[in-house]
Amino acid sequence: MIKHAIITGGSSGIGKAVAKLLASSGANISIIARDATKLKIATQEIAGSALTSEQKILHFVADVAQLSEITSVIQKAIAEQGTPDLLITSAGIAIPGYFQDIPVENFEQTMRVNYFGSLYAVKAVLPAMETAQKGHIVLISSGAGLVGLYGYTAYSPSKFALRGLAESLRGELKPCGIKVSIVYPPDTDTPQLAAENKTKPPETKAITATADTWSAEGVAQEIIKGINQQKFTIAPGLEMTILNRFHSLIAPLLNKYFDRLAKNQSTTQK
Ligand SMILES: NC(=O)c1ccc[n+]([C@@H]2O[C@H](COP(=O)([O-])OP(=O)(O)OC[C@H]3O[C@@H](n4cnc5c(N)ncnc54)[C@H](OP(=O)(O)O)[C@@H]3O)[C@@H](O)[C@H]2O)c1
Repeated sequence: MIKHAIITGGSSGIGKAVAKLLASSGANISIIARDATKLKIATQEIAGSALTSEQKILHFVADVAQLSEITSVIQKAIAEQGTPDLLITSAGIAIPGYFQDIPVENFEQTMRVNYFGSLYAVKAVLPAMETAQKGHIVLISSGAGLVGLYGYTAYSPSKFALRGLAESLRGELKPCGIKVSIVYPPDTDTPQLAAENKTKPPETKAITATADTWSAEGVAQEIIKGINQQKFTIAPGLEMTILNRFHSLIAPLLNKYFDRLAKNQSTTQK
């Protein structure tokens, strides 16, 4: 049973939905994000899903892209609630657009938040998990971490990087009794997706429209199921399962299909 889960990005979307499910099964929760007001509201919502009134649902304000901030709040969370059985790094941003239009700063920021923000959190929980000789680290990547997608030149590489981190870290932490998982969520109805849709090029819209959009709760259920089954890869739904198993094999076909969708879309625009 999970006694304490730390969730970065737990104030919204997928992170909050996972926090609520974990709370409903009796876990103490520590959520981390930047916006204090959103954190407070989410904390109340998560507490409303708790199994008992004794559970502690705490929130901590930090920017995951700042090593000192995320390290300090994770240490505080551990001091308050004990060594976490689970770390989920769900904090993330996505800024779609045409490569030439995206300023270099946005590429750097996306890497800092999505990749380094996750890595810093892992670094911060590891000493306690190593002492306990147990724990589970769950990194949230994306379907765009399996295949590069038109319009996602800033986002996809940050999610590919997480895949590399998870794959290399898994074997290193296994002897210490610490598990690692990587999640490839499909498009999910969250504030992030709504924001993305505002700047997505029409070609990206045409490509992403080929896949179903999930609810945050549906994705959260699959994440919890994967954690309980101790799966390394958690790929919710048939599309992500196929993409995860066969992405290298089907890449040439997918590229042809996506190129055709993008071309049709560009022609329609003219
Ligand atoms: N939604 C999708 O379609 C989809 C698909 C595949 C993968 N994902 C991934 O799933 C994860 C969760 O996404 P979501 O859709 O649930 O997004 P969301 O609803 O926008 O939630 C993002 C969370 O991350 C926090 N966050 C963002 N930047 C942060 C920073 N620098 N430091 C600390 N916290 C930060 C946000 O809070 P503050 O803004 O207050 O900091 C919020 O709590 C992300 O990693 C995303 O890339 C999403």
